[in-house]
Amino acid sequence: MRLLKNIALGLFVVVVLCVAVVYGLSSYRMGQKVSVTDSAPEFPRDSTTVARGQYLVRAITKCAECHGQDLGGQLFIDGGPLGTFHAPNLTSGTGGTGTVLADSDVVRAIRHGVGPGGRKLQWMPSRDWVGLADEDAAAIVAYIRSVPPVNRPSEASSVGPLGRALYVAGQLPLFEAEAIDHSNVARTRPASGVNAEYGKYLADIGGCTGCHGPTLSGGQVPGTPPDMKPASNLTPEGIGHYKESDFFRALREGKRPNGTQIDPFMPVNATKLMTDDDIRAVYAYLKTVPPKPFGNR
Ligand code: HEC
Ligand code: HEC
Repeated sequence: MRLLKNIALGLFVVVVLCVAVVYGLSSYRMGQKVSVTDSAPEFPRDSTTVARGQYLVRAITKCAECHGQDLGGQLFIDGGPLGTFHAPNLTSGTGGTGTVLADSDVVRAIRHGVGPGGRKLQWMPSRDWVGLADEDAAAIVAYIRSVPPVNRPSEASSVGPLGRALYVAGQLPLFEAEAIDHSNVARTRPASGVNAEYGKYLADIGGCTGCHGPTLSGGQVPGTPPDMKPASNLTPEGIGHYKESDFFRALREGKRPNGTQIDPFMPVNATKLMTDDDIRAVYAYLKTVPPKPFGNR
């Protein structure tokens, strides 16, 4: 009896120690600051710039998927033991980051996933936007500044015990800032038009690469639970049989050439807003990527 009690006590102590180590280590790593030495662009506010920003936010960079259609912030992952994650209000309404962040802070949040003081931002998919050209970053800022203010306080997020354990084990990509080169990056936007080079730019900043993988061959999207659909293979080995009209149908209607529905994890509500030329440019780019078997990302 006494032995059993001692074993139980021993196990209890081990569990408590493990929890303490995970908690301490995760808090330490989550709190580590990042220094960014990148330039900030000019910030025009003319109507052409605002319109470009609106198009980028709605059709390409998909900020509203997390920050809400009115950009007023929302709960975007209710992950139980993983954590509860809110994306903040980006507008200039009461409680919005629009009242406290400078234009250059917003650009750093987008391109680096880093807040004022070097704070790493949770879940901001900034790897997609490292190469976002100055004029496009400035256009996004101009649009965000132009939307109607939403009076809704941004709510705090919390990382749950499972989220912390996975993060410490390197299994939860909570901060893309940890995988980004924060020194000054030379960026040039390829001339827009129906060409593969501009198509690549759009595929990168449009998150096609982020979800479908750096080689675009698809597979489980990092950080998503196993019951979420893996992204499809977009290399010629996967969708080489797509005609241009099939590609339009996939991006506009969410249907495959055989008529089956593409899972709504594929953000068709945004891709359907892409211009004809931009869809053609991405199609042209996908024709040029090396064929790869499914799932290598
Ligand atoms: C996958 C979800 C997701 C997407 C897509 C996303 N965000 Fe965020 N964003 C977040 C979360 C979550 C936070 C809060 C992070 C934190 O406070 O740690 C955040 C924070 C921010 C902040 C506040 C930074 C700060 O210093 O407090 C800004 C500004 C921002 N996002 C802008 C954008 C813009 C612009 C886009 C589109 C180009 C975008 N976000 C797309 C999830 C997202
Ligand atoms: C948020 C993640 C995400 C983003 C961003 C995304 N996709 Fe997808 N996409 C998916 C997933 C997941 C599937 C598979 C859904 C299924 O199996 O039904 C998919 C499927 C597809 C398909 C169907 C292929 C087939 O026949 O199976 C095409 C085409 C496609 N995506 C193109 C794109 C393009 C082009 C972009 C960028 C403009 C893009 N996707 C951005 C997640 C994403």
